[in-house]
Amino acid sequence: MTAKIISGKEIATQLRQEMKEEVAKLKEKGIVPGLAVILIGDDPASHSYVKGKKKGCEEVGIYNRLIEHPATITEEQLLNEIDQLNEDESIHGILVQLPLPKHIDEKKVIERISPEKDVDGFHPINIGRMMTGQEAFIPCTPYGILKMVQLQNIEIEGKHVVVIGRSNIVGKPVGQLFLNENATVTYCHSKTKNLKEMTKQADILIVAVGKANFIGKDYIKEGAVVIDVGVNRLETGKLCGDVIFEEAKEVAAYITPVPGGVGPLTITMLLYNTIESAKRFYG
Ligand code: GUN
Repeated sequence: MTAKIISGKEIATQLRQEMKEEVAKLKEKGIVPGLAVILIGDDPASHSYVKGKKKGCEEVGIYNRLIEHPATITEEQLLNEIDQLNEDESIHGILVQLPLPKHIDEKKVIERISPEKDVDGFHPINIGRMMTGQEAFIPCTPYGILKMVQLQNIEIEGKHVVVIGRSNIVGKPVGQLFLNENATVTYCHSKTKNLKEMTKQADILIVAVGKANFIGKDYIKEGAVVIDVGVNRLETGKLCGDVIFEEAKEVAAYITPVPGGVGPLTITMLLYNTIESAKRFYG
């Protein structure tokens, strides 16, 4: 078997085109979705991510406000800034780029963002809402993964989804999302015994470990759907996923590449959440 390669890039382009049309229609009604991004310090990776978010907003017509601060900003100053954005009617989404400098409490910052503007879906209220099947902002990478699978018309109900990784940003919420779609979900992590026996049972295998080329073909059931969330930079400078792509594509039915798989969906779903937020504000 040679797997079908799921192009996140193509799906993202299609979704962004639809969003662009939707934003144009909202603007006719006087609604301009607005996203504020707070960037602290000079971490090159964070600057690069934020650049992608700005470009995405411009592409679909979302008003975006980039607020930059030096790493010396105090926690209180940052919390005050969030308070102001919570009150600002032109802003429907607030994102504080992580990680933050060590003297700032990340948890406190996330919890200060109004849950109604938390387009990252990191606020415990949104996590609780998602877990109980209520309307919530869904974290962007898990949401992108679900969209990719749904847009391939892959059935989820009754399927065995195995997630490797249990981070708050990807592993935990992605399993919950698939559970909400009536899948049977197994979580694996660094302390899991007999990992291979677990992953071999997966109809849909989601790998979010952060270790280059960690999963080879002997971990994958024939005909499985393999979603590779890893983004690892090799010494050669080349990007690669957590899955050995060339091997895995010989046994899987569907596979996502790195780069060009899950990555392009993450910012796309942030744009989607911001538009949803604007629509909710105007009822
Ligand atoms: N840093 C890396 N990824 C993310 C993300 O999705 N959201 C935020 N706020 N910070 C990040």
